[in-house]
Amino acid sequence: MTQHLTPDELQAKINKLPRMKIAHLPTPLEEMPRLTERLGGPQIWIKREDMTGLAYGGNKARHYEFEMPHVADLGYDVMINVMDYHSNNARMTAAAANKIGMRYILVLKNAANRNVQGNLLIDKILGAELHLLDEYQSGDAEGYATRLKEELEAEGHKPYLIQDHLFPRIVGMVGFVQAGIEILEQINENDLKNVHIIGVAGRSLCGLIVAAKSMGLDWKFTGVTVNYDVPLDGYIFQHSEDLKKALDLPVTFEQGDMRVLDQYVGEGYGVLSAQVNEAIHIAAQTDAIICDPNYTGTVMAALIDQVEEGGFSNDETIIFLHTGGLPAVFTFADQLAAFKGSVQART
Ligand SMILES: Cc1ncc(COP(=O)(O)O)c(C=O)c1O
Repeated sequence: MTQHLTPDELQAKINKLPRMKIAHLPTPLEEMPRLTERLGGPQIWIKREDMTGLAYGGNKARHYEFEMPHVADLGYDVMINVMDYHSNNARMTAAAANKIGMRYILVLKNAANRNVQGNLLIDKILGAELHLLDEYQSGDAEGYATRLKEELEAEGHKPYLIQDHLFPRIVGMVGFVQAGIEILEQINENDLKNVHIIGVAGRSLCGLIVAAKSMGLDWKFTGVTVNYDVPLDGYIFQHSEDLKKALDLPVTFEQGDMRVLDQYVGEGYGVLSAQVNEAIHIAAQTDAIICDPNYTGTVMAALIDQVEEGGFSNDETIIFLHTGGLPAVFTFADQLAAFKGSVQART
């Protein structure tokens, strides 16, 4: 039988990793009373990871509390990141790099001739050294970044190409093991029962699962797929043992710990569907929560649909994990502004 850890014991394991204070913590856990009323199902709460700070917030602020000391301690002097043009990761890494005075080179896919808006605008303001690849170059963005890395090495630098390393892939889970301890405290303060957390099927959710399993909690999890091109196996499931090892834990996550919903992706990552567009407007016009078109809007669409279709039981307390992504709203301004539907509450 697995020996469960107390929150203090789990905290002690996390505390063994080097860490710096970056995120505004704890983030609030709040009710969404008007959405709850509108949907007429279970109580809906929201964990506000969009309020972590670090240049407009998001889940990555927790990651960088661990990642930046790791990179700096190993003597790297420049970070290189390969991301999509509207990436939140790209922006938040730029912000975290500034916090420790680290040079930051950003290779952005499908970015040439784009409107400088949303995350791309913030990347620029934060001073990231931008390489805006066109569609053709984007096919070999990793090769492009590797060549940059080799040039820097030849100049005597020690570049950290994020995509070459394991630590960035598990640090997002570590950050959310920490978030799990925080959420437990908030759940206890608010006396919430039958907790069911819904979020992007990704690292944050895996971290929360591990926190729950380590502490012997019966929280349930639903992960919403947002991208057909990133199979969950390679993205998260293959790293379950890495996380266990990094924190020296008695348990880790498995595929069956998360109900995965993949029917809300629509045409694919970065394409705003009518359902997600509507969900963004519903969350905004009920509890004034702004979701983004790529990640949290998709989760909100799933939450609304699942409540309407009976995918949650009414005695559950749903916690919507808002993982940020706010600047992407401005990248999709035209489609969002063109929304014509009515989001009036049903009578
Ligand atoms: C807003 C937002 N939510 C969720 C995710 C998924 O992150 P993770 O897999 O670390 O949970 C991302 C990833 O970039 C994101 O930008």
